[in-house]
Amino acid sequence: YMWKTFCLSLLVAGLFSCQEGKRYQSFKPGEIWLDNTEVHINAHGGGILYDGGRYYWFGEHKTEGEAGNRANVGVHCYSSDDLYNWIDEGIALAVEPEGSGSPIEKGCILERPKVIHNAKTGKYVMWFHLEPKGMGYRGAQSGVAVSDRVTGPYRFLHAGRINAGKWAENASDELKNAPVPALEDAYSGGSLPGHPDSLNIHKRDLEGGQMARDMNLFVDDDGKAYHIYASEENSTLQIAQLNDDYTDHNGVYVRCFAGRFMEAPAMFKHNGKYYLMMSGCTGWAPNAARSAVADSILGEWKELGNPCMDADSATTYHSQSTYILPMPGHPDKFIYMGDRWTPENAIDGRYIWLPLEFEGERFVIHWQDEWKM
Ligand code: GAL
Repeated sequence: YMWKTFCLSLLVAGLFSCQEGKRYQSFKPGEIWLDNTEVHINAHGGGILYDGGRYYWFGEHKTEGEAGNRANVGVHCYSSDDLYNWIDEGIALAVEPEGSGSPIEKGCILERPKVIHNAKTGKYVMWFHLEPKGMGYRGAQSGVAVSDRVTGPYRFLHAGRINAGKWAENASDELKNAPVPALEDAYSGGSLPGHPDSLNIHKRDLEGGQMARDMNLFVDDDGKAYHIYASEENSTLQIAQLNDDYTDHNGVYVRCFAGRFMEAPAMFKHNGKYYLMMSGCTGWAPNAARSAVADSILGEWKELGNPCMDADSATTYHSQSTYILPMPGHPDKFIYMGDRWTPENAIDGRYIWLPLEFEGERFVIHWQDEWKM
């Protein structure tokens, strides 16, 4: 009898601890999403790294109120083995104390962090959009940090503009020889007083380096890594190769979608082709997504239209893309990861994860209130 009771209690305890560790068995886009400590996951503008059999989710740690959109804490990391249930791994990259003068000083803007692993150096490399404190969005810099451990702590290396002194591979002679008309203001939104090519922002920024705001990273099968970012006052997406250790650019880059104001880029590969999902440029307010395909990362890119198919497709189901992850166990499917921003109380931002699948040449995303892989 005692033996039976012992076995039964082991079984019951096992069942309970299993359920405790596995709160979720499905995705519910837009709902509060609790981590293992029962706190809403705080990793906005995030991305995922699959490493050593686990998923690591890195994103912006937001705080309460409107001021919570600035970096008051740093980059938060979570890990999971099933993508439904996430363990809080703490702050992977912490902001530096106020008054330290560091480019990543508390109160700066640090957005859309992404982490990749470098097989040659063994290091984990984090890139992010950085606006040093007090400059609004005029800095348009990119920051880099590295770590020997996936969860950090990450050590800040440097931040700045991109590929100073280097023309884009596909910059035309016409652009190179054209004048640079004066542009009074710095723009951080979705319009310019003219086409970026007629304003020649690419040439304007040649010496100081290209601007970069919304960004992502992509590592190709050959180990080459790419930085994809909204440049030229957000008007034109640029795609730049990283160097061998992924901590800087190597001078090779292209201009894509000139004048289309693409933001929130997320790249993935399917059947040898490269795909991009992007948004338009309307700040925290959602807009209709765009998509594109190319045979090679450095282009030519061809636009494929809005991948969202159901009601609210005009707002990407009230979200903005941040990452696209291959769906485990389904070679033709991916997971769309988007942010439903709540700028008036940044910490309350929600996550919209939806299945992404192929329909002929293009990919599509349908709304689901609840779904499983
Ligand atoms: C969005 C961008 C966000 C953030 C925001 C600030 O367009 O995607 O990452 O920069 O603007 O208004």
